[in-house]
Amino acid sequence: MKRALITGISGQDGSYLAEHLLSLGYEVHGIVRRVALEDPTRRFSRIDHLRDRINLQPASMESYPSLFNIISKHKFDECYHLAAQSFVAESFADGFSTMNTNINGTHYMLAALRELQPECRFYFAGSSEMFGKVRESPQNEATPFHPRSPYGISKVAGFDLTRNYREAYDMYCVSGILFNHESPRRGYEFVTRKITSTVAGIKAGLAGELRLGNLEAKRDWGHAEDYVKAMHLMLQQPEPEDYVVATGETHTVRDFCELAFGKANLDYRDFVKIDEQFCRPAEVDLLIGDASRARRSLGWKMNYTFEELVSQMVKGDLDALDNLPNKQRQIETIA
Ligand code: GDD
Repeated sequence: MKRALITGISGQDGSYLAEHLLSLGYEVHGIVRRVALEDPTRRFSRIDHLRDRINLQPASMESYPSLFNIISKHKFDECYHLAAQSFVAESFADGFSTMNTNINGTHYMLAALRELQPECRFYFAGSSEMFGKVRESPQNEATPFHPRSPYGISKVAGFDLTRNYREAYDMYCVSGILFNHESPRRGYEFVTRKITSTVAGIKAGLAGELRLGNLEAKRDWGHAEDYVKAMHLMLQQPEPEDYVVATGETHTVRDFCELAFGKANLDYRDFVKIDEQFCRPAEVDLLIGDASRARRSLGWKMNYTFEELVSQMVKGDLDALDNLPNKQRQIETIA
């Protein structure tokens, strides 16, 4: 039986990846923070249904000894490093902590693995944010990076660290350059979930408008459940290589609004208001990925279309509100 370690297991991607690895017969361990602002019920809501089948280990991405300790206790075949401060807007608000957590966290994981188990295969969650002010479209593995946020810069550093451990120490270390990927488990601060949760709130009479920033930004949005399968495939290859994972389609935030509101028989133009506070100091205007290498070499394919993704997210939020007791509804709807 293979044993895997997932950092960020309580997040959207971590939860889908844990399910996928369990379905393949893996023993799954996950790193969780010892302290968090969210209460445990909410914090572990995405992995609640897996709790008796996974091993949770407390540690902090900011503490090398805590990570070293976990890696010294068990022998892992594969390590998926997903933990990060992943909200781009927050990285402008506090670039220092984003850099500390994202860059040092990756470095600590790599250094501890090199020290204790250099044969463990390592996956780094790279990002299409690394392309930033894009030099070409669509973007592929050879497209130069030009990050536009502290978050993007931290991901370029993690990508370089991962490649350097591969080249310097001959370790099996790869980066997935994943374009935006969403699902009903997406955090509420990201634009897709902000839109679908507010659509549900408006339908339930709990919200009257949706305040957004740049509606013209274009993103290549896929489904997280499809994307975690690519992560796993990347660690099963004869040689370590980096891969772009994307749908090859791009849509504006406005398109997303139109479709999501339309799914609930609403017209987004009646509810969406532009609010400068949600615009970023530097924006990534256009992302569209070319995942030919992943399709060709990994045999990766997607199961969800863009429309199915949006439908599933809207339905998930509508159903969640339907199932909530009245007094909790106000709290759950983040407008
Ligand atoms: N979050 C948010 N909130 N975004 C808004 C809003 C708003 O009110 N209004 C417009 N947007 C625009 C942002 O300016 C951006 O262009 C786009 O919507 C998507 O924003 P996010 O959903 O926050 O995601 P992201 O593209 O910045 O980053 C996500 O994808 C990356 C991969 O490209 C995150 O998941 C990153 O962690 C990931 O690496």
